[in-house]
Amino acid sequence: MSERRLLIVDDEEPLRRVMSRELERTGYSVSGAGSLAEAREALATGHHHVVLLDVRMPDGSGLDLLPEIRESYPGTDVVMLTAYGTVQEAIRAMKQGAHDFLTKPCKLAELEAVLDKVFEKQALERGHTALQRDVDRLVPSSGFIGCSSQVVEMLALLGRVAETDSTVLIRGESGVGKELVARAVHRQSRRSRQPFVVVDCASLHEHLLQSELFGHEKGAYTGAVRLKHGLFEVADHGTLFLDEIGEVTPPLQVKLLRVIETGTFRRVGGTADIKVDVRIIAATNRALEAMIKDKLFREDLYYRLNVFSLAIPPLRERRDDIPLLTEHFIRNSAIAPKRGVRVSPAAMEVLTRYHWPGNVRELENVLERALILCDGGVVEPEHLPLGVRLEASFRPVEEDGELVTLEAVERRYVRRVLEECKGHRNKAASILGISERNLYRKLKELETTPGDAEPD
Ligand SMILES: Nc1ncnc2c1ncn2[C@@H]1O[C@H](COP(=O)(O)OP(=O)(O)OP(=O)(O)O)[C@@H](O)[C@H]1O
Ligand SMILES: [Mg+2]
Repeated sequence: MSERRLLIVDDEEPLRRVMSRELERTGYSVSGAGSLAEAREALATGHHHVVLLDVRMPDGSGLDLLPEIRESYPGTDVVMLTAYGTVQEAIRAMKQGAHDFLTKPCKLAELEAVLDKVFEKQALERGHTALQRDVDRLVPSSGFIGCSSQVVEMLALLGRVAETDSTVLIRGESGVGKELVARAVHRQSRRSRQPFVVVDCASLHEHLLQSELFGHEKGAYTGAVRLKHGLFEVADHGTLFLDEIGEVTPPLQVKLLRVIETGTFRRVGGTADIKVDVRIIAATNRALEAMIKDKLFREDLYYRLNVFSLAIPPLRERRDDIPLLTEHFIRNSAIAPKRGVRVSPAAMEVLTRYHWPGNVRELENVLERALILCDGGVVEPEHLPLGVRLEASFRPVEEDGELVTLEAVERRYVRRVLEECKGHRNKAASILGISERNLYRKLKELETTPGDAEPD
C-alpha cells in the first residue's frame, strides 16, 4: 500500500508526540502542527490524506480551518478532535464536512478504527474517480457508453456509416440501445440538423401505420376530414427511424420497399407521386432471416434494409461495459445526488455476473431502485433485487468444468434459495414457484441425500 500521510493539528505537544509514535508504529507517516498557522504551512507544502484537527488552538478555532481544508484540499479528509462534552462543536464540524470526530482523550483503537474507515472511503473514491475519467473519455459523441471491444468496434462502424446516406438495419435484443444507436447515426450524419422521426411499427395497426407513414388525402376514407401529411414527408431531408420493423405486415412491406427503391410514395387515397429525400434506419429484435423462410418478411425488403447492419450484442456478452454503464447511470440519475453515491465492490460483482435478459434498460432500472434504497450512501448487494443477487451467486451447473445432473442442480438451488430466505419456507417456495408442501418434500429428500459441496 502506498504511504498514508497524516497531519495532527493540536497544541498539546505531548499528546502529538504520543499519537505520532503510536500511529507511526502502525505504518502511518505523521507530521504535526501546534497552531493553525503551522497547519496551513504543512498543508501547503505536502499532500496529507487525513488531518486530525483539534478545535481549540492558540491562534483560533479548528472549526475555521476546517472549511479552508475542505475547499482547498478536496483529497484531504478531516477528523475533528473535540474535548469531552462539546457535542455542539462536533455537530457543527460534521455539518461543515468533517469526516468524523473523536473525543479527547481517545483510545488508539478508536482512532485506528476511524482512520481505517477514512482510508477505505478514499480507496473507493479513487476507484470511482478513475472510472469517472474513463466515462468522460469514453462517452463518445454517440452518447452510447461502452468500452468493450464489441462496442468500440460497433461505434467505429457507426461513425463510418453515419457519413453515408445508406440504409441501416440495427439488430439486437430488447433494451440493448437500438434507438440510442439510431439517434447517434442521425446525429453524426450530415442530416443532423434535419428531423429525426421515430415510428414505432409495433404499436399501430396496419391501416393506421400506413396513414401515419404516407399520410392521406382529404376524404380518403370515412373520418379523413382533411389532408394529412405522412411521416415520410415530415422526415424530408432527415432520418426516419422504423422501430420494430419486423412487425410490419407484408402488404405494408411492399409499400415500404417502393419508397426505398424510388424515393417516392403516394398518400392514401392520392394519385400523385410525392418525392422525398429520407434516410431510413430500421431496427428489430426479431430474427428476420427466419421470418423470411416463413414468408412473414419479404426478402427483397430485407436486402434493401440490410445494406448496412449494426449488431448490438446483449449486455451479458460484453460485461466489461457494466461498471462504466453503472457509473454513468448513477451520475445521471434524476433521483441520486450527483456526488457521493458509490457501488460497493460486492455489489459491482453481482452486477457484472447477472445475465441481464432486459439488457441495459434492465440495468438502468435496477440501479434506479438501488439508488432509492441506498439512501445516498453506498449501493450494497442488499439493494439489488433478489433475482439478480441469486443468479449472480449461483453457478450450479459446472463443477471443475464438468456438467452435473439436473437433480444435483435442483438440490443445490433449493439450498441456495433457502439460505437466501434465511430459512423462511413460504418465501423460498414462492421464489421457487412451488407449493410449500412440495418444498417440504424436497427438503426431506435433501436430508436423505449426501450434501454435495457447493461450488463457489
Ligand atoms: N450503451 C449505452 N449507453 C447509455 N445508455 C444506454 C446504452 N444502451 C442503452 N442505454 C439506455 O437504455 C435504455 C434502452 O435503450 P433503447 O431504448 O435504445 O433500447 P432498444 O434496443 O431500443 O430497446 P427495445 O428493443 O426494448 O426498444 C435507454 O434508456 C437508453 O438510453
Ligand atoms: Mg427501442
